[in-house]
Amino acid sequence: MTRLLHVVGARPNFMKAAAVIGPARAYAGVEQILIHTGQHYDPEMSDTHFADLGLPAPDENLGVGSGSQATQTAAVMAAFEPVVARYRPDWVVVYGDVNSTVACALVAAKMGIRVAHVEAGLRSRDRTMPEELNRIVTDQLADLLLTPSRDANDNLRLEGISADRIRFTGNVMVDTLLRLLGQARERRAAAGMGLAKGQYAFVTMHRPSNVDDPDVLRGILASLEATTRHFPVVFAAHPRTLARIEQFGLRDAVRQVKVIAPLSYLDSISLVDTAAVVITDSGGLQEETTALGVPCLTVRPNTERPVTVTEGTNRLVAPDRQSILSAVDHVVHSLTQSQHVPRRPEGWDGHAGHRVVTSLLNHSAGSPDELVNPATGRQVAV
Ligand code: UD1
Repeated sequence: MTRLLHVVGARPNFMKAAAVIGPARAYAGVEQILIHTGQHYDPEMSDTHFADLGLPAPDENLGVGSGSQATQTAAVMAAFEPVVARYRPDWVVVYGDVNSTVACALVAAKMGIRVAHVEAGLRSRDRTMPEELNRIVTDQLADLLLTPSRDANDNLRLEGISADRIRFTGNVMVDTLLRLLGQARERRAAAGMGLAKGQYAFVTMHRPSNVDDPDVLRGILASLEATTRHFPVVFAAHPRTLARIEQFGLRDAVRQVKVIAPLSYLDSISLVDTAAVVITDSGGLQEETTALGVPCLTVRPNTERPVTVTEGTNRLVAPDRQSILSAVDHVVHSLTQSQHVPRRPEGWDGHAGHRVVTSLLNHSAGSPDELVNPATGRQVAV
């Protein structure tokens, strides 16, 4: 019996965990426990995603909620320690780069429980991002590092992490996307909002660097308002962004932009799938747009997901009105003049979750890195 204890806390964790929990059910002798730290707690940031993704209800919700970086991280650690003591899992499986990820990795490692990090090795090399610090620390602590792209393996080796702890498994986010794309398309979210296919921009924005400074946020909002000259703009705003727009008195800066609350996973994918362009600072949307072949403008000076730029549809844009507007103009123009043919990166094939599970089980048993995938009957190299 191998007991896996999965940790989720914030919205981008849910689609990744779903891609591992599902395939792991097919293996006899695997017991799974799901812990929600409660970092995200609004229904549209959490519950609607559980429903869309078919995730089981968490065995426990630690209810930590919001706080400063240190307060939130410490609250997760204090609440998670007795959970680990109670379940004594073989593995604590953590996902992505949010505060819950590093907090639970640190607790488990100190208690002598093995840690597996799904989405290991991504680096923006921007230490002003809380996520970058979370990634570096989590990867140093983890016993098994499961990477979404080859550049991540290189990053880990450069940091001195030994090869026997690293497995290239591919992108679990894309597994969930491909599994649910049919259902998402049935939502016809664009039509439901009166939008024509391929003739609107879909926007999300929530990074502190983009929304916590009134001047930066004003410039971004001005660029979105000006983009409505080309086509309608739908902005699904994170709670923190909505709060900042109100706090800085910027509601009038986006009169033509359709500002809405965060969407469920399926509605979000449905809107992304048929957008002319996605404008975002999200990590996950950079990947989903590349997988779907939809142009993406990422409003950040760097990305920890470089394959979305070199192989996919992503382009980095500075967070000011002029840079965003000229990038939108470029996308509008290159709708007929594409410079390179985007492709899906290696391992973004819908089977990354299986490779994660087989890596975990192989690492548990100490057996060679080959196992039969029960879903396909084929041997999986990990
Ligand atoms: C977190 C992650 C970020 C991820 C994002 C996805 C960290 C450091 N950041 O950022 O990497 O891209 O989730 O959404 O872990 N809030 C609500 N309701 C909620 C959750 C948050 O109103 O359900 C508001 C609160 O005002 C809170 C603020 O959003 O203080 C920030 O929430 P927090 O969990 O600290 O980080 P996110 O910005 O959501």
